[in-house]
Amino acid sequence: ASLKALNTFHVEASAAQLLELHDPSLLPDVLALPQVADAPLLVLGSGSNVLLAGNVEGTVLVFANRSIEILEHRADHTVVRAGAGVSWHGLVMWSLQNGLSGLENLALIPGTAGASPIQNIGAYGVQVDEFIQTVEAWDRETAAWVRLDPEACQFGYRDSVFKQMPERYLITAIELRLPLLHALRLGYAGITEEMQAMGVELPVAADVANAVINIRRRKLPDPDVLGNAGSFFKNPVLPLEQVEVLLQHFPDLPVYPADQDTRRKLSAAWMIEACGWKGYRDGDAGVSPHHALVLVNHGTATGEQLLALARQISASVLEKFGVPIEPEPRLIGAQW
Ligand code: FAD
Ligand code: EPU
Repeated sequence: ASLKALNTFHVEASAAQLLELHDPSLLPDVLALPQVADAPLLVLGSGSNVLLAGNVEGTVLVFANRSIEILEHRADHTVVRAGAGVSWHGLVMWSLQNGLSGLENLALIPGTAGASPIQNIGAYGVQVDEFIQTVEAWDRETAAWVRLDPEACQFGYRDSVFKQMPERYLITAIELRLPLLHALRLGYAGITEEMQAMGVELPVAADVANAVINIRRRKLPDPDVLGNAGSFFKNPVLPLEQVEVLLQHFPDLPVYPADQDTRRKLSAAWMIEACGWKGYRDGDAGVSPHHALVLVNHGTATGEQLLALARQISASVLEKFGVPIEPEPRLIGAQW
């Protein structure tokens, strides 16, 4: 089966077989089928954070459980359960329509609810781990159903136990604890300005979502029009001392807070742009002219060609800044 429509880079790759599972309770039986048990297995949601640099010599499994349920209504919060196959943006919109807040800054992130904990999706000053109460998964190592709390998930910036051990857990549902009221997160550059331009005076959560949607539509290419996987590199996190030395040489380099006080996050986009890559194109593999962190497929680039470009970019950033940058998407069929 072709995977071209199952990855947002729209690169050509194939899988020996493609399985869509509507009822995750059947998972143990499906995994025990000889044609599944004896070959590699790759779960795909929307394929918006993978680079297919080879074929899958086994099964691609897609979760198609797409129901959203309210598990618990309290005076101050609601617990919501979403099947792995639910569209993430659809879930954000559903939550706002139901009077729940928290997810508004995460509007328009492509992909599925089931993938959201994998790299702890984040945008505009919010990460999903703030709201995750439980991740339900099949643990392939112990062959058992597990319910992981946030601590067990080991969330970090674009990181979790699921990203560290990509073969181990098959996520079948997530449970989110969403507040009925909370302080809007407006600190990220551009949100307040966008709401002013929209004529919003007393913003509610839905206004923040609309502002984020507008900003994202301007900055990020639509994968349906131009293949891409969002940011191709993570923003590097470095010790403060190293950052201070870098700032002496590059005073304009944008620096952001990191999880720990002794570290800072740097803008990979700024460094890549400074190396001259923004808008670069070699055949159909290129860098977005609007955002230096986004690798794009202009048509028929292969996963290998995109990966080769990514390697050139990271080598040049290492040479100019002494800073290694690492891919954010999962590489299939290749090692970084
Ligand atoms: P896939 O790409 O299908 O899978 C990603 C990884 O998760 C793979 O390793 C896959 O095997 C694994 N996986 C997926 N589902 C499951 C499951 N149910 N169980 C076990 N493993 C699973 N990300 C952000 O954090 N913030 C952003 O602002 C952002 N913006 C983006 C903008 C664009 C235009 C694009 C294309 C991507 C962007 N991304 C962003 C990246 C992407 O949207 C997220 O990483 C998203 O969570 C991926 O979801 P998916 O369903 O497409 O996962
Ligand atoms: N910048 C440049 N050149 C560019 C683009 C950006 O110099 O071409 C500089 C500017 O100084 C800009 C700064 O980088 O102010 C930050 O840019 P942006 O706000 O677009 O954020 P980012 O750091 O590039 C991160 C996430 C995005 C997320 C946005 C908004 C990572 C790897 N990426 O991008 O997530 O949407 O912040 O919060 O952390 C993704 O993970 O796929 C993704 C798109």
